[in-house]
Amino acid sequence: MITIAGSASSKLAERVAKQLKCPLLNPEIKRFPDGELYVRLDNKLEEEHVVIVQSTHHPQNDNLIELFLLLDAAKDLGARRVTATVPYLTYARQDKQFKPGEATSTHTICKLIEHAGADDFLTVDMHNNGVIQNFSIPTFNLTAMPLLGQYLAKLKLQDPVILGIDQESLERVRRVAIELKADYDYLGKPKVALKKITIQPKHLEVAKRDVILVDDIISTGGTIIEATRILRSQRARKIYAACTHPAVTEDTLQKILKAGVQAVIATDTIEHRTSVVSVAPIIAGTIQQGF
Ligand code: R5P
Repeated sequence: MITIAGSASSKLAERVAKQLKCPLLNPEIKRFPDGELYVRLDNKLEEEHVVIVQSTHHPQNDNLIELFLLLDAAKDLGARRVTATVPYLTYARQDKQFKPGEATSTHTICKLIEHAGADDFLTVDMHNNGVIQNFSIPTFNLTAMPLLGQYLAKLKLQDPVILGIDQESLERVRRVAIELKADYDYLGKPKVALKKITIQPKHLEVAKRDVILVDDIISTGGTIIEATRILRSQRARKIYAACTHPAVTEDTLQKILKAGVQAVIATDTIEHRTSVVSVAPIIAGTIQQGF
């Protein structure tokens, strides 16, 4: 087995290779003067099981093209099996047509990954688990929620309550809460309210309690900032935000902290300074079990 580090996931790939106790290959990746990418795998891969680790956050399109080129090059070199490990799958939120005529981007991206040479596909906390139906190869959607819960359990939290953003997030939140033996609930985020997000807690009191907001992804930070505003008005004690995918700029992170969030706790599906939890153990563990 050989792990290949895509440039978007070099640290995570190293951690995965370490857990798998297999060699790590850093491909040659450069850019032509006109902006096109060049990828070269300078290794013998014949009959190998190759694990390519490449996330597809910003710059999404460049990272995707690099992934396609790596998959194709590994196949070309005679790899027996190529596992596309894409910890964060971009375009996963456009998983259906919201208006007639829209491209269902998720469907297109899944087709391209498969056609580029993936024999199987592994990802983490994909926005909608139904997305895996776009693939005809074996696909695994792992969850980082227990790992996040284990990290949070080490913080000295006061009577914590774990809150998801909407009803759909309840299963994720439950997986975090189990690790802390804490209460959990969700906030209401009407799907129609794209411009003005209105959020209300459903069942639990948050006054004088530490609150952990859990989401799959933080992007513009709008959801977390609005949730924090409401929770503060309800006299929550300390508020933390935990997510799998920290798709945040530094500017966004500062806005979230300024809104009253103590810390953002995230994983390395996107390598960022908030990535304090590694998903390497669940990726390597799944590969070792042979899916
Ligand atoms: C939406 O359904 C997702 O689970 C997240 O709540 C959302 O994508 C977060 O985005 P933002 O940080 O831009 O509010």
